[in-house]
Amino acid sequence: MEETSTRLAHLIEERIGMQAKLSIPRIAAMLETMAPAARQTWSKSLLDSQPDDPSWLDFIEDIFNHETFFFRHPRQLQHLAENVLPDLIRARRQRGETRFRVWCAGCSSGEEVHSIALLVRQSLASPEGGGVGQWDLEFLGTDLSSRILDTARRGHYVASPGLNSFRDIPDYAQDWFRAVLHEGRDVWSPDPDLARRMRFLPHNLTCDPPPLGDVDLVLCRNILIYFNLRHAHAAIATLAQALRPGGILVLGPADGLREAPGLEMVCDPQAVVWRKREAA
Ligand SMILES: C[S@@+](CC[C@H](N)C(=O)[O-])C[C@H]1O[C@@H](n2cnc3c(N)ncnc32)[C@H](O)[C@@H]1O
Repeated sequence: MEETSTRLAHLIEERIGMQAKLSIPRIAAMLETMAPAARQTWSKSLLDSQPDDPSWLDFIEDIFNHETFFFRHPRQLQHLAENVLPDLIRARRQRGETRFRVWCAGCSSGEEVHSIALLVRQSLASPEGGGVGQWDLEFLGTDLSSRILDTARRGHYVASPGLNSFRDIPDYAQDWFRAVLHEGRDVWSPDPDLARRMRFLPHNLTCDPPPLGDVDLVLCRNILIYFNLRHAHAAIATLAQALRPGGILVLGPADGLREAPGLEMVCDPQAVVWRKREAA
């Protein structure tokens, strides 16, 4: 059983980046629940599967960690709103450009995309931004899991007890989350004006090319922490390729990347972000 878990975990690592040691306990627990004959059939079919086979996709759905919530890492987002976004917007306006693109890679059910969209809109609405109306805004959320992307597209966020999407809204963002009573439950629906500027697409960070280019801001938070070094570097190269020169990459505080070709680290007490070199 141990050998089966290890072989499946290595196939996961190869295909989606998650380090084998992280998935082995989960796979072992799945195998425990099966009769010995069923274990063999199940594992053989997965080991022989293609990455887009429904059985493989169902299997990795059980392995993923989709945890996310609105305004996760609030101090980092506040730093973006107060320092990074104004710089990016100023640079766009100095060039006479009015397009602003954001890509959230590994966006799960979309809370991260809505959080950054609310902050971008606030920055553009300020006198320095010149007003939202003149901007061509685009927010792309991607994830490997088609199932979680369906949730993101539905954009229907229910305040359930416990680990819900609203568990840690910082004071500065409270105004955007006045719950709306809907069919007897507290539900938050995205701002329609922002939602129509959002797209959610499948994308595998370990092997797919960037889904768009000339991006001003890329967020890829709480994903690389699961990857081995080789896949983390491949993902960083893809994220960097999507950025326009001077564009910004934001990782999660625990993602722990030390070097990224073509990018320079911009350190601040509140956040570590990476900027694509102008000459790159
Ligand atoms: C822990 S969630 C983080 C969500 C969000 N970025 C946040 O910080 O709240 C990690 C997400 O990464 C996705 N993911 C895992 N491996 C991936 C890969 N190889 N390519 C794209 N997305 C991946 C998972 O499906 C999951 O939704």
